[in-house]
Amino acid sequence: MNSKTFHIKTYGCQMNVYDSEAIEGLLMENGLVPALSEKEADVILLNTCSVRDLAEQKVLGKAGILSKLKRSRPDLVLGICGCMAQNMKEELFKKIPALDLVCGPNDILSLPTLVQEALEGQKHLLQVENPRWVMSADVPKHRRSGVTAWISVMRGCNHNCTFCIVPRVRGREVSRLPEDVLKEVEELVTLGYKEVTLLGQNINSYGRDLEMRSSFPKLLGLLNRVKGLERIRFTTSHPVDIRDELMDAMHRLEKVCEALHFPIQAGSNRLLQEMKRGYTRESYLEKVERARAKVSGIAISTDAIVGFPGETEEDFEETCRVFREVQFDGAFIFKYSRRSRTPAGERVDQVSEEVKEERHQRLLSLHDEIVQGKNQDFVGRSVEVLVEGQDKKGKGRLSGRTRDNRMVFFDGPEEVIGNLVNVHISRISAYALYGEIE
Ligand code: SAH
Ligand code: F3S
Repeated sequence: MNSKTFHIKTYGCQMNVYDSEAIEGLLMENGLVPALSEKEADVILLNTCSVRDLAEQKVLGKAGILSKLKRSRPDLVLGICGCMAQNMKEELFKKIPALDLVCGPNDILSLPTLVQEALEGQKHLLQVENPRWVMSADVPKHRRSGVTAWISVMRGCNHNCTFCIVPRVRGREVSRLPEDVLKEVEELVTLGYKEVTLLGQNINSYGRDLEMRSSFPKLLGLLNRVKGLERIRFTTSHPVDIRDELMDAMHRLEKVCEALHFPIQAGSNRLLQEMKRGYTRESYLEKVERARAKVSGIAISTDAIVGFPGETEEDFEETCRVFREVQFDGAFIFKYSRRSRTPAGERVDQVSEEVKEERHQRLLSLHDEIVQGKNQDFVGRSVEVLVEGQDKKGKGRLSGRTRDNRMVFFDGPEEVIGNLVNVHISRISAYALYGEIE
C-alpha cells in the first residue's frame, strides 16, 4: 500500500517553524511521507499564529479554500495546530465545518494518532489538553537547511504586555533542561549544522523555572564548547530581563554572534507604561548603550508597534525619535492589532486604521533610510559570511548572513554552502549586502 502523504503550512514566528519540523519528524516516524505539493497531500495541517488578527484571517481564508478542495476529495484530512488551536479550540469546528482535527502546541506528540484516526474517518478530533510544553532532543525533527537550525529552548511568557495574546495562548515560562538542549545541538553538529538560533518568547529568563536553577548566559557557555558549531544566535530578549551577565557572555563567548533582538515596542513613556512593559525609554536607551560598550560591533534590532490605543501624534513621534537615536540595524514594525480578551483590546480609544497605516508607512520608511545608511558603511569592506544556500530568487546566486545578521548575496560555487567565507561588499540596499567571494 502507498504511504499516506502530508503537507504542513506554517504561519507566524520561528517557534512555529521549529514545531512544524517536529510535527514533520513525528509524522514521518509514523510512516507518513511529505507530499510533493499541497494539492497531492492526503493530510494538510496549518500550523497557526494568533499574535495578530491578520495571521488568523489568513488561516481562515486558507482553510476556506481547502474546505472546497475537500469537497472534491472527501478523504482529505484537514487539521489546525499551533496558537489558533489553543486560542479557539472547538470554536474552530464551527467556523470551519470541514476541519477534521485541532491540536494545540503542547499536544503535538498526539498528532500521529490524531492523524491516523482522521485518516480512518473520525471527525472533529480535538486535543488541546496538555498544560505543559513537551519538547526534547528525542522528539524527531525533519529539518531542511542543513546549515542553520532553530531550537526552542523555552516556551511561554511571564510578562503581561497589555496588547499581547502570547501569555494566554502559550502560558507561563517553561524551560528545557540545559543537557537536553546540549544533546540536540550536538546531534545537529553531527549532521553538519554550523549555526543554531535559540528561541524563547522571553529568552533571558531561561532557566528560572528549573529546579536546578540555570541561566541563559550559562546555557550559552555550555553550547559555546560544542566542537564544530560555528555560531550561536538567540531571540527574543525582553529589556527588563536583559542583564550585564548576558552582555559579558556575548563579549566572552566567541561563537555567540554580535546581534541582539531587543523589542522596544514604543518610544513614549506613557505608552510603555500602558503597555505594562516595565521600562522607560531612558532605561532602554541605557541598556543599548551598555550593550554597545560591552560587545563591540553589536547589531541591535527591535520590534515596534504603531497605533496602540490612545497613541497620539506626539507619542508616535517619540517612537520615531528612539529609532533615530538608536539607529536600529533591523526592525519588525507592526500595526497594533486588537486582540480579544486583552486589556488593550478592551479599550475604547482605538486608533483608526487610516492613522495606523499612515504611521506604519512613515516608520517603515524612516527605518529603511537608517538601515540603508548603516549598510553603506559596508561598501568596500570584507565580511565573514556563513553560506546558507542558493538564493531562492537569484540565478545561481548564494546567500548567507554576517555575524551581525545582515543578509549577503554573492556569486559563488555551490561547494561553499555550509562554509564560512569572506565576501567583499560592492553594493547595498536597505535589506541586504551584495558582493563577491574573496
Ligand atoms: N517576546 C516575543 C514577542 C511575541 S510577539 C517573541 O518574539 O517571541 C512578537 C511581536 O509581535 C512583539 O514583540 C510585538 O511587537 C508584536 N505584537 C504582539 N502583540 C501584538 C498586537 N496585538 N498587535 C501588533 N503587534 C503585536
Ligand atoms: Fe508578549 Fe510581552 Fe511576553 S510581547 S510574549 S507578553 S514580553
